[in-house]
Amino acid sequence: MKFNNAYVTLVYDAVGKSKADTKQVDMYEGFRTGLDAYTNEDIRWPDVPGMKERYAEFADTVSKLVMRIMRALGHGMKLKDKDYFCEAHSLMNQKGNISVLKSIKYMPVVDGDPDSENRIGEHTDITTLSFLFQDQMGGLQVRDVSNNLVDVVPVEGAIVVNVGEVMQEWSGKRLRATRHRVVPPTDPVKQKQNRRCVGYFAQANGKIVMRKLEFEDGNADSDEGTDVEPLTVDQFMTKGLKRYFPELEDLES
Ligand SMILES: [Fe+2]
Repeated sequence: MKFNNAYVTLVYDAVGKSKADTKQVDMYEGFRTGLDAYTNEDIRWPDVPGMKERYAEFADTVSKLVMRIMRALGHGMKLKDKDYFCEAHSLMNQKGNISVLKSIKYMPVVDGDPDSENRIGEHTDITTLSFLFQDQMGGLQVRDVSNNLVDVVPVEGAIVVNVGEVMQEWSGKRLRATRHRVVPPTDPVKQKQNRRCVGYFAQANGKIVMRKLEFEDGNADSDEGTDVEPLTVDQFMTKGLKRYFPELEDLES
């Protein structure tokens, strides 16, 4: 296992490693998997029976859901090429695509330590779409269109889907990236407990160039596009990741 690099297949994020809003250290630990972690026999997983198989199965299931949503988006947004988003995600859970399945544990609040209340600072994800499977502890908040923070109350069996920065940029800001954060629950008993969440951070294939999308009804004046020196998905993501993980400063775009 290799640490401190976003582009590896298995990554352990220690508590305090990320600064989502740059002002505070985030109090969670995470385990990220992606690329060919599920199929490459040379990659060593933690010695936990069934772990690799469970992750692989879940990543595969969620990637199928991602495809359904991408297909719906292509139709709903009236893209000229309705399958464009699907084709752009064709390599999920394989080399060439850095979609990530991540299990996250937020730490309990410690009396007298205000820093322990920083579960994760306000940010937007550098994804196309993010799928969050949260437990019943609460604490996730999103900004609504009026810029108010709203609690995302856990609903059994529900998946939270956030738009990420890649989709925002790509869609000419027709879709807006969801600003969100995690704070401790108000219940003092729950504050002393871990909060667990599983996230699937969907990403388009790295070599895709984020050219302005073409819509059936043409592009509106209000569209803000990336048609001036468009970046590849990899380049866009690398720029964004450096904001959250300062130790990646030397990572090449
Ligand atoms: Fe996030």
